[in-house]
Amino acid sequence: MIELKTYFSKELPGINRFLESETAKLDGLVQQVAAHVLLGGGKRIRPILTMATARALGCAETNLLPMACALEMLHTATLLHDDVLDGAELRRGTRAAHLKFGVNETILSGDVLLALANQLGASYGKARISWLLAEGIMATATGEVMEIATLGTPEVDRQTYLDIIIGKTAKLIETACCCGAVLATDDPAAEDAAGAFGLNLGIAFQLVDDALDYVSRTENTGKAVGGDLREGKVTLPLILLLEQMDGSEAASLLAKLRESTLTDQEINSILATVDEKGYAAATRQEAADYILKAKTALAFFPDGLEKNVLEQAADFVLAREK
Ligand code: IPE
Ligand code: IPE
Ligand code: MG
Ligand code: MG
Repeated sequence: MIELKTYFSKELPGINRFLESETAKLDGLVQQVAAHVLLGGGKRIRPILTMATARALGCAETNLLPMACALEMLHTATLLHDDVLDGAELRRGTRAAHLKFGVNETILSGDVLLALANQLGASYGKARISWLLAEGIMATATGEVMEIATLGTPEVDRQTYLDIIIGKTAKLIETACCCGAVLATDDPAAEDAAGAFGLNLGIAFQLVDDALDYVSRTENTGKAVGGDLREGKVTLPLILLLEQMDGSEAASLLAKLRESTLTDQEINSILATVDEKGYAAATRQEAADYILKAKTALAFFPDGLEKNVLEQAADFVLAREK
């Protein structure tokens, strides 16, 4: 993954400087909340995808930073909101913003970041960019709502789970790639290919996230291990476990998830079972199918450095441990 690594080390300083200067323009407490989460780490995979997609498709625009950073801001806003919804305590290795600054302050600061992302996108004067950003925001929020509406309910089968992860995660990664494509060309086929790449990559991204939630360590992810189980989320590793249980056992586990009555001992035993039976590994295996689809979509892209970077980004998403 040498080209991807080089790309990251070349582009990250500019991305981080741009995010810092935009954060510095924000007002009072909003600036503090934004700095806490935006400048406190993060892999920056979405802005890199935007830049690489734009250049892969022959983009003539040289100033890609506002567009790329709009995607990172949008993503960061969803993290602020997500941690409120999930009652998460740890984000990017540090205290979640809502615990430090308050829930209302955090939600509204997230809204400011969403608006700022829209402004940055609008600065290119292309209506399609604004449409795509709006579509990405709507899909993310809708996916998150779908997830909380189904917490602990028996109807979270594989299809519902897929719909949720497409909404809450994959659509924004699709948006990141589509925005890059639109800056490069007006050809709808190029946008479609970029979108198919991003959407499938995004599904794989969340599948791997859900596998890591069961088996990874906080030092790697900057998040609590077993968070999804504690939050009552039914993700693929747990669906695979539920499918192996008899009806009453599964119903009892779902009831405890819904009522948040799982003891620490029960949680640890479920985490151990998921690991032992290979359900986290099977979830990553499922992600591999989507990575293959994402790579197939790249066939449309002309050969070159950025196409290699995008291919390697797909490999990175599948192999990632954090
Ligand atoms: C976390 O995204 C939220 C999900 C969609 C799973 P990332 O894993 O990209 O988080 P950062 O930006 O690196 O912190
Ligand atoms: C990720 O959902 C989707 C969004 C942040 C919108 P998760 O709840 O799985 O993400 P983490 O695990 O908190 O990063
Ligand atoms: Mg969460
Ligand atoms: Mg998660």
